[in-house]
Amino acid sequence: MSMPVRKAVMPVAGLGTRFLPATKATPKEMLPVVDKPAIQYVVEEAVEAGINDVLFVTGRAKYGLEDHFDRLPFLEQALEAKGDHDRLRQVREVADLADVHYVRQGEPLGLGHAVLMAAMHVGNEPFAVLLGDDIIDRRNPVLTSMMNVRARHGGSVLCLMEVDPSQIHMYGCAAVEPTGDEGVVKVTDLVEKPDAATAPSNYAVIGRYVLDARVFTELEQTRPGRGGEIQLTDALRKLAVEVPPGEGGGVVGVVFKGRRYDTGDKLSYLQAVVQIAADRDDLGPRFRRWLRETVDSWPS
Ligand code: UTP
Repeated sequence: MSMPVRKAVMPVAGLGTRFLPATKATPKEMLPVVDKPAIQYVVEEAVEAGINDVLFVTGRAKYGLEDHFDRLPFLEQALEAKGDHDRLRQVREVADLADVHYVRQGEPLGLGHAVLMAAMHVGNEPFAVLLGDDIIDRRNPVLTSMMNVRARHGGSVLCLMEVDPSQIHMYGCAAVEPTGDEGVVKVTDLVEKPDAATAPSNYAVIGRYVLDARVFTELEQTRPGRGGEIQLTDALRKLAVEVPPGEGGGVVGVVFKGRRYDTGDKLSYLQAVVQIAADRDDLGPRFRRWLRETVDSWPS
């Protein structure tokens, strides 16, 4: 019997340089997507998959994030005094969403280093990693599928998305083989941000992982790689290629075909805001009408 996945690690300590100057004093994970910060969608996704222990790996400017997931008595009193029960319920719900913990990453030395900061909290059990700048449409509950795949295959599970070959240099890239299990592939190699010419495939690794605790042993030994950062991809590669399945090795990928947004990228962020607003029952009808009229008024 495979151990259940009970804990989620959410690294939010990156510098977010692609979104400067907005991210100078605010983590990119706190940028609003309609009326919630991006990270709230990600925490809600973990909770919907049945995980309510969330560890944030934070860096500078973390206070806004901590306040967001905490009770704010003066705000609650003000809303109560105004009789604004709907908004009062919303702000309380965020604080009660999950059992939230924090660990600090002193310096942003890379995603692998950020995940290693979680070793003490996670201990020796499988865990999920969700990148807080990656929003996945809730109609595609891929994290739940990944947890089911971990129960069937053991080892670690990645989320893979086919991208245009011209885009693969922005992602970790997986070489894969079929497993016989529909929508699940065996990962035989991993390369961080390869050129299109040398990439082993067009399968990009996106920001959801279900990892065996063995990854911590590999991360402790991982030296800075591409960009001088300690890369999660390098430790995962060892799990895929060198560590036997009986010792926590073995990596498979779940092929994701739904909608996903990288809110750390300006264009993808704008697409997330527009699509999520258009899908909303409260805003959608008026917003879609305005959007259609506005687009029609643009010169072709
Ligand atoms: P990214 O590479 O997208 O984040 O990391 P970044 O470095 O902040 O972005 P740019 O390229 O400068 O715009 C993926 C995730 O890992 C976290 C980030 O916060 C993001 O959620 N991360 C990255 C850390 O927590 N620590 C790090 O040292 C690096």
